[in-house]
Amino acid sequence: MTDTTQNTLSLRLKTETAIEHDRMEMLMEQAKVFESKENYAQFTLSQYYFQRDIEYLYQSTAVGAVIPDLDIRGRSEAARQDLTDLGIQPQGMDISTLHVRYPQALGWIYVSEGSTLGAAFLFKEAQAKLGFSADFAARNLAAYPEGRMRVWKRFKQALDDAQFSPSEQQQVVDGAMQAFAHFGDLLSHLDTLK
Ligand code: HEM
Repeated sequence: MTDTTQNTLSLRLKTETAIEHDRMEMLMEQAKVFESKENYAQFTLSQYYFQRDIEYLYQSTAVGAVIPDLDIRGRSEAARQDLTDLGIQPQGMDISTLHVRYPQALGWIYVSEGSTLGAAFLFKEAQAKLGFSADFAARNLAAYPEGRMRVWKRFKQALDDAQFSPSEQQQVVDGAMQAFAHFGDLLSHLDTLK
């Protein structure tokens, strides 16, 4: 019997980017994000810049047609407020997604949305090790008001409902790989972020 879920875009994204996800976890460990307030602040800068890059892609009409609830997504404003809590004024970096087209953009957004799941663990660590919260310095790691899983499932469903051809799916996967590579670069150079 054929498994009809086998070739869904959401499943392809999960399986075909799994190695990159593992690499992110390793980089996070190496960055010792929760070892000090200074390390955490540099990590928050990376979140801020990445979220800004992602939110730039929300302007695309084609993206909005696939993901109709973009208005509740995105955490750059939360990260910016966290930076203010931490006494940091971001100096600004160029937007890295100016060249990203549809449907690759959906892969970038996938990486950002999926990262809200892992953020549940990071949020707990930020609370336990640094005393931060959803109201102070860890807003960007807090759950969406509706709950992480619900918002995530709706995102995956929207991607699958779009019924992309295999080659379009490949472009979305490519976009996700680009986004992981970009966030990996940020994580590898946290100490240089301003
Ligand atoms: C220490 C760091 C991290 C941990 C512990 C972690 C943990 C997790 C866990 C447990 C899930 C699966 C949740 C579920 O299916 O119920 C997940 C999913 C995901 N995470 Fe992470 N994560 C981390 C960092 C990151 C980073 C830095 C990114 C990207 C910037 C990221 C992107 C994703 C994506 C895209 C998914 C969705 C996978 C799918 O398609 O199901 N994660 N993460």
